[in-house]
Amino acid sequence: MDKLGGVCLNRGCIPSKALIASAVQYDKIKKAEEFGIRLTSPPVYDWTAMRARKDKIVGMLVGGIGQLFKSHGVTHYNGFGKISRTDEVMVIDEDGKETTLKAKNIIIATGSRSRNLPPFPVDGKRILNSDHMFELENLPKSILIIGAGVIGCEWACMLSMLNVEVTVVELLEHALPLEDSGVGKLFERELKKLKVTLHTKTSVESVQPSPEGVAAKLSNGSVIETNQVLVAVGRAFNTEDIGLEEVGIKLNKNGSIKTNAEMRTNIPNIFAIGDVRGEILLAYTAVHDGAVAVDNALGGKAKKNYLGVPSVIFTHPEVATVGLTEAEAAEKTEIAIGKFPLRALGKAHTENEIAGEVKVIGDKKTDKLLGVHIIGVHATEIIHTAALAINRGMTVKQLGSLIYGHPVISESIMEAAHDLHGESVHLAKKRK
Ligand code: NAI
Repeated sequence: MDKLGGVCLNRGCIPSKALIASAVQYDKIKKAEEFGIRLTSPPVYDWTAMRARKDKIVGMLVGGIGQLFKSHGVTHYNGFGKISRTDEVMVIDEDGKETTLKAKNIIIATGSRSRNLPPFPVDGKRILNSDHMFELENLPKSILIIGAGVIGCEWACMLSMLNVEVTVVELLEHALPLEDSGVGKLFERELKKLKVTLHTKTSVESVQPSPEGVAAKLSNGSVIETNQVLVAVGRAFNTEDIGLEEVGIKLNKNGSIKTNAEMRTNIPNIFAIGDVRGEILLAYTAVHDGAVAVDNALGGKAKKNYLGVPSVIFTHPEVATVGLTEAEAAEKTEIAIGKFPLRALGKAHTENEIAGEVKVIGDKKTDKLLGVHIIGVHATEIIHTAALAINRGMTVKQLGSLIYGHPVISESIMEAAHDLHGESVHLAKKRK
């Protein structure tokens, strides 16, 4: 039985961001002299203390949910839930005791777990998934990460900042392959600066124990030996044994639960929300799904609205995007592009973080804002101006017309919007 808070709180968003914050802090301290601070001895990090800090934050937030449940009158049963009829859930606790709950409406929010693929027999010792990473007592000297998706890239950056030798193997063309390819290319340059070795368009065919730890055979014939392997090749949906077949709930082809835009499954009083729906695997879209489902369970007519959902990736530097990629936009319409590099921004220099850029994509004819792609410091915070603009159907002109504070990293969004019209005064004039 899991603690309250699910993957996000216990083995996902919060613990990973706590550890990433420690790694970023360590990296900053190493660069102290660049800020005019002299260190009398090199900084040393303490992984055990970093993990303890992470556990403290998680513990506090998990406790917070318990308190919120109490204050909002939510009754919590700790056990394995199984839908026994379309209006009934059976809860089996750790001692095997069964409790039957009657329900007018049921919401399934069972989430997802790391996907296991047969060539990578995860054992929690040498071959790990992201859950195991949080529990490592010591960091390895070297690690191979299979998959340069979100989890693979976040761990690659964090571990390399903590001096682990990192190799990443990705099947597709770029790291972060679902993002705009321009972002992927820029991000790969940053991985290089972090001394991460990346093999793209390559798959790992097998992993086997070796004197070093693990030997991985790649599709290009080479063999990589590292102390440990992290398998980060996507997620599987938690749909087993929860009574879906018994009550006849339909699944999508990929095994996730099929719902409509009201979050209803094919059984009208049974809803599904979050990762288990398989549409977008993000804690914050799951929250939106939940609000839609509850509204409808109470007789409303709410529909999901994913327009302008940002993607926020806590790599180093951060990546955050919203809307269409350049390739997706170009397929739909004629586009115009504006760009602004962070090295042209005063605030980026004051923070000593000049890597990265903002790219704004608009419809050439109507000026409608189609996409914004950011790589750079605070990207995950500043993206929300652009997300609101896309959500509200604004133009690139409108995005750039806001008076932004100064000096802030968000100005880079304004400058990239201005650049799309050839109006960025902080970029050298382009020759016609
Ligand atoms: P992912 O789908 O993002 O990436 C998996 C990667 O593994 C893909 O790029 C795929 O091409 C590659 N791959 C698959 N098989 C391979 C093989 N045999 N050899 C080499 N590469 C292979 O999945 P990931 O990273 O496991 O993340 C799972 C979910 O968690 C994602 O949907 C993500 O959105 C979510 N997540 C979100 C975060 C955030 O919002 N900051 C943080 C962490 C996870």
